[in-house]
Amino acid sequence: MQTWRTNPFEDIVLTHGEGCVVWDKKGRSYLDLLSGCWCSVLGHSHPRLLDVVGKQVSKLIHVGPAFRSEEVEAALHKIEGIVPPSLERTVFLNTGSEAVELAIKMARAATGADAIIASEGGYYGATTYALSLSEAGRNSSWLPSVESMVRIPAPLCRNCPHNMPQPCKEFPCLNELRDLCRSKTFKAAAILYEPALAYPGIIVPPEGYGAHLKELVQELDAFFIAEEVTTGVGRTGRWFGFEHDGIVPDILVLGKALGAGLPVAAVITTQDVEERCRNRLIHVQSHQNDPFSAAVAEVVISVIEEEELVHRAATLGKYLVNRLRELQSKLHSISEIRGRGLMIGIELARELVSKGPEISRRLLDAGFITGYQARNATFRLFPPYVIERKQLDEFLGAFEEILHSETR
Ligand SMILES: Cc1ncc(COP(=O)(O)O)c(C=O)c1O
Repeated sequence: MQTWRTNPFEDIVLTHGEGCVVWDKKGRSYLDLLSGCWCSVLGHSHPRLLDVVGKQVSKLIHVGPAFRSEEVEAALHKIEGIVPPSLERTVFLNTGSEAVELAIKMARAATGADAIIASEGGYYGATTYALSLSEAGRNSSWLPSVESMVRIPAPLCRNCPHNMPQPCKEFPCLNELRDLCRSKTFKAAAILYEPALAYPGIIVPPEGYGAHLKELVQELDAFFIAEEVTTGVGRTGRWFGFEHDGIVPDILVLGKALGAGLPVAAVITTQDVEERCRNRLIHVQSHQNDPFSAAVAEVVISVIEEEELVHRAATLGKYLVNRLRELQSKLHSISEIRGRGLMIGIELARELVSKGPEISRRLLDAGFITGYQARNATFRLFPPYVIERKQLDEFLGAFEEILHSETR
């Protein structure tokens, strides 16, 4: 028996981890610059996480969605402290995909409209509907086609097809959407907005872009869903990515970081959305509002607060980007560095694109786990927020050496 093939590094069997380091069966250590699948933001075996898991498992794991628990109360209280006051209804779930699905169901139920506006290049999850909306599902003929979907161009300002001077203020890339929104006949349920798109190689929207989209959907009476499975809970150097845009969403979707490696996700919305969904949406899942998930979320947020990890993500992110830019000007083997907080994309120069997989393997052999995405020739880094500057320096040293030897 084997697992369904998911990755190219099947020769490595990982056994345990501590902090930002994981070890394999042969005793080799690796610096985890990816936080697993961008989830383990507190690193591995954080004592507070181990403690809450152990205690909660022996106290109460699951009660079913009909009951509340002290853990859910405590987690709600924590969440209340970090989200805007208008967001006051939370559903705890397990994965980002199902949280995205629920957010869409809420928007459709509440508005009575079908259409979902989503960015080209985005990834919204592995469940059927979320995948159909995603770039990754675009050419999968076996997926149900989403009739009422409006794709808008990703904000790829570097290659602006309209040749707009940067920074752009008018966003002609949204002209079609603007016309559609003003056509009077168009109705939409929501826009799914990722405050930094991870899938197309880390695309950070320009200033004002998110606010502009929010205005457009407001004109439509549609909802603004901040899809923050990747960007939420500190990753971008703010608690939530929408804070960079100076806006407040109607629905906020969280995953990954909220469980710091355990499967915890959440959909957080307004009382108004809840009321408008009354008698129109019934949502019940086995693992909805589990005390175990809530206890984990509460501790993750507490640790992020106490260890000031949001600030740390912002500071270390800036440091890493600056050091990478120095490398870029020195070696000419990097075409662009993009990032927000500890969510960073390093795009290889054209001459090196064919060597991307080899560079990624060499980094791994040298003890560094990074994510190379061949379709965008981009290394994506999502280190745990607890990573140390000297660990980043070790990576930078190895990366420079490998890039240097590949360009010789
Ligand atoms: C932006 C975004 N949305 C949704 C998902 C799906 O989350 P999950 O894999 O937890 O279902 C992901 C996963 O990578 C993601 O990056």
